[in-house]
Amino acid sequence: MKLLPQSLAVSLLLALGTGWSRADAPAPATNTMPVLEIHVDRVTGQVSPTLYGLMTEEINFSYEGGLYGELVRNRTFKANPTNAVYWSTVGGAAISIDTNQPLNSALNVSLKLDASQASTAAPAGIANGGYWGIPVRPKTTYRASFYAKSDGHFTGPLTVSLAPTNGGAAFATATVPQLTSDWQKYEVTLTTAAVSPSKDNQLVITADRPGTVWFSQVSLFPPTYNNRPNGNRPDIMQILADMQPKFLRFPGGNYLEGNEISNRFNWKNTIGDISERPGHMNDGWRYWSTDGLGLLEFLEWIEDLHMQPVLAVYAGYSMHQRRVAPGDDLQPYVQDALDEIEYVTGATNTTWGALRARDGHPEPFPLNYVEIGNEDFFDNALTYDARFTQYYKAIKAKYPNLQLISTVGSTEPKAKQVHSVQPDLLDDHFYRSQQEMEAHAHDYDKYDRTGPKIFVGEWATRVGSPTPNLAGALGDAAWMTGMERNSDLVLISSYAPLFVNVSPGAMQWRTDLIGYDALASYGSPAYYAQKMFSLNHGDQILATESQNIPLQHWQPPARRSRNGVQGALPPAQDIPNLFFDATRDSAHGIIYLKVVNSTGNNLPVRIKLDGVARVNKKAGFERLASASPDDTNSIDQPRQVVPVSGAIKGVSEDFVRTFEPYSITVLKIAAK
Ligand code: AHR
Repeated sequence: MKLLPQSLAVSLLLALGTGWSRADAPAPATNTMPVLEIHVDRVTGQVSPTLYGLMTEEINFSYEGGLYGELVRNRTFKANPTNAVYWSTVGGAAISIDTNQPLNSALNVSLKLDASQASTAAPAGIANGGYWGIPVRPKTTYRASFYAKSDGHFTGPLTVSLAPTNGGAAFATATVPQLTSDWQKYEVTLTTAAVSPSKDNQLVITADRPGTVWFSQVSLFPPTYNNRPNGNRPDIMQILADMQPKFLRFPGGNYLEGNEISNRFNWKNTIGDISERPGHMNDGWRYWSTDGLGLLEFLEWIEDLHMQPVLAVYAGYSMHQRRVAPGDDLQPYVQDALDEIEYVTGATNTTWGALRARDGHPEPFPLNYVEIGNEDFFDNALTYDARFTQYYKAIKAKYPNLQLISTVGSTEPKAKQVHSVQPDLLDDHFYRSQQEMEAHAHDYDKYDRTGPKIFVGEWATRVGSPTPNLAGALGDAAWMTGMERNSDLVLISSYAPLFVNVSPGAMQWRTDLIGYDALASYGSPAYYAQKMFSLNHGDQILATESQNIPLQHWQPPARRSRNGVQGALPPAQDIPNLFFDATRDSAHGIIYLKVVNSTGNNLPVRIKLDGVARVNKKAGFERLASASPDDTNSIDQPRQVVPVSGAIKGVSEDFVRTFEPYSITVLKIAAK
């Protein structure tokens, strides 16, 4: 372990940390001991109240097969044009996709069930096993619904049940007594008894006499968060609520753009009755989206968690280098964005505000941030400046108070940056190793404060799969100390991706904050690190200095360029492996000292609080740590690495605490 020279005070470093009871006896300070000095009387800026938020898109089965409550996979039979994928037959049935019996122009195919062999002894029908299972919980009521019509000869009944996949008695059964030869919607409830929770189950619909039936939009919903119809899974919503996130960036990410323009998130197709939504191929992440979680559902999710939207609007660029020329060609897309903003914020006497009211939400939603596109630095033709400017002028003319975000981040080459107008914020994206995160933890200290503000719209320490391990959390926490210390500049930030369904084959992108399967969900160590930061930051950033920060020797890997060319090995570096920042709740006089010890050693640290008259000897703490940086949480062991909290004694204006190996600590010190 090397030490930074005393003279090299890392300005604005922060905070302090703390400990646990066995380190209460202060060790005598030595002249090589790390020193963290907090100038409680020197406020360098305000902590952005919206610093910690969420970024989300349809990836890794985030919504369908994740947060969105729907349990039936391929409910509209549009996931594959020729095969009824994810559907199976029961008894002697035959099924096929039928393009001649559409429900409407949006759901323009249906599932044809040939149950000509059905009998009371051998019912025939269809079954759906959901997204890697259908969760059955005790004493729970599910709402099943579908559109159906018969060939005119068959008049019913149909039996709807929730049953184990491998046979055995159904958990719950309901009957639809009669069918006609016209499309009609049927709804039943299925209530389970005091059964054990399980996921290897399916929704089954059968006939017990011969006939032909067509189905459209077969749906099954469990209870949802806040009991919203067409709502979200309560357990995952609760994990999010516990983080107290301040905003939601949606709907992407690559999901906003699509590979092709036709597969963008076309918001106008995502509102209204779900049976009127055509859905689209999420070609970026390679699976079908019914758009059941559409624009209004995003906004209601935001409302439920008391967040604000960071609305990303499509900006005329899709990932396979498809672009709409700025000017007349782009104008309809600009108009779509204006309409979208009106749908979100407009009064009910506006065209789109009235549609929102029709959809069940007369109250407008607050909106401060609009992001123009996603990762437009990938546009090889460099058209973003012109496209952004066209959107910027149109949006600012109508909504001068909206803060508009450029998707070309602050570290991208000048040639790619927007220069014709000044964006309000730049969206920086960083997917890095633990050491890269640590090496860059002080980057924002050096930014000038006269230009656009920063939105770190996607960031993650990509260590661990499917969800980050403790090493990932340590890299994240080091990085968060830098964002928080500079949150006068970094106004908003969001980890990405947020979600992963951990079932085999569900993941497209590794290292995702929150994991789940059909039945259970869990937060990764990185989730808990983020929650610790999000819940403990106050309103003032305090000036800090440090000495003797331990260093690690790091050889950065050779970079491969975007067109695949392997670069030379960069020079090795000495980078810190102790990180900190200090903030304060001015109303209550609480100093939040966050310390990240990424070494494998106990680290005694001298902590000095300057400019305080009185310090409470007792301080609260939260700490996330484990014996190995590889330690992690999983669907089977969801609470291996979770924070502990408590109180420590011996706090003063000048004291020593020992920080546990591989630890993230928040110390809450009361001082005046
Ligand atoms: O977060 C995963 C992907 O990373 C996002 O969709 C995209 O914006 C970025 O490249």
